[in-house]
Amino acid sequence: MKISNKLQQWVQEWANLCQPDSVHWCDGSEAENQKLMDQMVASGMAVRLNEKKRPGSYYFQSDPSDVARVENRTFICSARKEDAGPTNNWMDPAEMKSTLRAMFKGCMKGRTLYVIPFSMGPLGSKIAHIGVQITDSPYVVVNMRTMTRMGEKVLEILGDDDFVPCLHSVGAPLEPGQKDAKWPCAPIEKKYISHFPETNEIWSYGSGYGGNALLGKKCFALRIATNMARRQGWMAEHMLIMGITNPKGVKKYVAAAFPSACGKTNLAMLIPNLPGWKVETVGDDIAWMKFGDDGRLYAINPEAGFFGVAPYTSMETNPNAMLSCRSNSIFTNTALTPDGDIWWEGIGCDIPEGSITWTDEVYKRENGKPAAHPNARFTAPASQCPVIDKDWENPKGVPISAFLFGGRRPGTVPLVYQSFDWNHGVFLGSIVGSEVTAAAIGLKAGVRRDPFAMLPFCGYHMGDYFGHWIHIGEIAPDKTKLPKIFNVNWFRKGTDGKFLWPGYGDNIRVLKWIFERVDGNATAIETPIGYVPEKSSIDITGLTGVADKMEDILKVNREEWLHECELIEEHQKIFGDRLPAALKQQYVALKKRLME
Ligand code: OXD
Ligand code: MN
Repeated sequence: MKISNKLQQWVQEWANLCQPDSVHWCDGSEAENQKLMDQMVASGMAVRLNEKKRPGSYYFQSDPSDVARVENRTFICSARKEDAGPTNNWMDPAEMKSTLRAMFKGCMKGRTLYVIPFSMGPLGSKIAHIGVQITDSPYVVVNMRTMTRMGEKVLEILGDDDFVPCLHSVGAPLEPGQKDAKWPCAPIEKKYISHFPETNEIWSYGSGYGGNALLGKKCFALRIATNMARRQGWMAEHMLIMGITNPKGVKKYVAAAFPSACGKTNLAMLIPNLPGWKVETVGDDIAWMKFGDDGRLYAINPEAGFFGVAPYTSMETNPNAMLSCRSNSIFTNTALTPDGDIWWEGIGCDIPEGSITWTDEVYKRENGKPAAHPNARFTAPASQCPVIDKDWENPKGVPISAFLFGGRRPGTVPLVYQSFDWNHGVFLGSIVGSEVTAAAIGLKAGVRRDPFAMLPFCGYHMGDYFGHWIHIGEIAPDKTKLPKIFNVNWFRKGTDGKFLWPGYGDNIRVLKWIFERVDGNATAIETPIGYVPEKSSIDITGLTGVADKMEDILKVNREEWLHECELIEEHQKIFGDRLPAALKQQYVALKKRLME
């Protein structure tokens, strides 16, 4: 392996501080992967699943204290506090580094330090970027191998260039002779997921789970990349990317942002309920976008795998996700069946007798506790998705025709509407939110705003991020080629409290309207909030019981929207003088249209 001096020195410096027993440079090979899996099976950290049922797949249970991203332990350490903004935790970079240096000292004793060179995006793509992660978790190595392009081939492309340094430790050094925990990690108050946006660095300590530890994903591809994108004039977004082909064979790509738990992975892999329409997946979580030579915006999926929420994924809700993780996959915090397969709530069958829960107990219904953790995950190679798009690894990316935003809104927000123009579309992104009940997450009941679905992922002041979106509209080489912007809401409820729209595969009917709007071929009514479909322009052929609900599904009620305006005004105040004037104007214009 040819390794640059810069990279060697960086690794050496951290190895000196962390004091691992050994250093291993990951080549990304199958043999290396197998060796690590075998070691983890031997140590009791992993279970090899039944080769007949789930070939090449492994099962892990995390520590019960380490089950999800820890937003309250996630920090944006910009030089100035005001640059992290009101939606991020901030700590002074020098102070954070000094705190963490003390914690990293000796933190890998008794462990191996793995060096993972990885590319976010197809190797050699002009939109892709390279990172190198140091970690003491073999679980992280095998996950990074699926989630990124990783190993020797990345070093060849990197040469002497700069890389994003990503430092990670589970924060659990071993004394000589000390038996390792099944899932080593540090207690919550010692977990730090730290980002240094001015120097593109990530230092993560204490957690081995998901986005806290697989640093290519949320830390690099979103929090650091939003900063890089802002400086360099591109976009790093929390968006799925999908191709939609109509019965005539015309194809368009759209990118869509939804807060967590709104069915993003399901939409990315949707099986259309309209004959002749096809959906193909480029990515289910993150999009990096740059203008191409033809003036269009091109998107790549920086990831190479899916890190999907398992519970309630089934052959009914998302067969393509189920088929993606049929083999060569990693399952974390699901249940384990007696015949060596995995199970989770909502998988579509009853839990087999004698199954083991994610907390390693024999499942007992009467305990009333779920067998899989609600944030149990599958890690599956994107290449195994039956509807993976043929261009998903195209280094040029795919041209984006439309952006979709949406949240869970039982009231007020119609099934779909289109913005009047780019800035109005940015306004729609800035007010994305989902309605929450107080009981659900212990917050005040009401609309929880999650602008652009980026609340936990924007690596700088969110007001400036809105400004960057406005700026992208201004620097577009050809404004007529900018993606059209839509808001969708699959979750509107009737007075009976039931969902009005069937969702899932029938969402293609909404995508069809969007597809045709992009070409200027579908009819719409101009309302104060934007262009809403004419009732007859949503194709509901073959759907029973929906025709007489269409009015309610598409309704724009002035009273409700005036109330929404009050909420939007409150939301905008959070961003103080960093709220772009263009968005304040959008709010004023919306209110004026509603009062006319
Ligand atoms: C994710 C998330 O896990 O957005 O992708 O929370
Ligand atoms: Mn996500």
